[in-house]
Amino acid sequence: MNNKIAELLNDQINKELYSAYLYLDMANYYDELDLDGYANYYMIQAQEERDHALLFMKYMQINGLKVTLKAIDKPDKVFDSVLAPLEIAAEHERYVTDLINNIYHEAQLDKDYRAMKFLDWFVDEQMEEEDNADKMISRYKLFGSDPKGLYLLDQEYAARVYSAPSLVLD
Ligand code: FEO
Repeated sequence: MNNKIAELLNDQINKELYSAYLYLDMANYYDELDLDGYANYYMIQAQEERDHALLFMKYMQINGLKVTLKAIDKPDKVFDSVLAPLEIAAEHERYVTDLINNIYHEAQLDKDYRAMKFLDWFVDEQMEEEDNADKMISRYKLFGSDPKGLYLLDQEYAARVYSAPSLVLD
């Protein structure tokens, strides 16, 4: 594997942990608003991001690549409405998709089929994450301005439960 791909994989560990941090920040914001369902949704989202980081780390370990953990940036987004974190989350997921696509591109140039196969899972995952994030925005716009609608949305997000990623690396 070339150094550039190893470096990008290593950076992705940090980016996924930053994503977890960002979603924890959102969970805290919703918790302050007593929107416990939205808070729950983003707590679980943070767990998923941690899982993504661990998958990148495991992939590097299996392939004998040195992992260098770096400082995680402080989440610095400003949340000033119920809608704001939803929009920031959607924008953030598109950014993560670009990062994954960029690693994929490098792997393709290097004919690193193993990395491409590993990254396929993340390509699918990003499609799902963007779709979920976009739906949260549109559903808030449809129902969230009505207190009862917002209550029902919050109840629905309260029901989200954590499940481990379908990709397992041994
Ligand atoms: Fe790890 Fe939300 O992408």
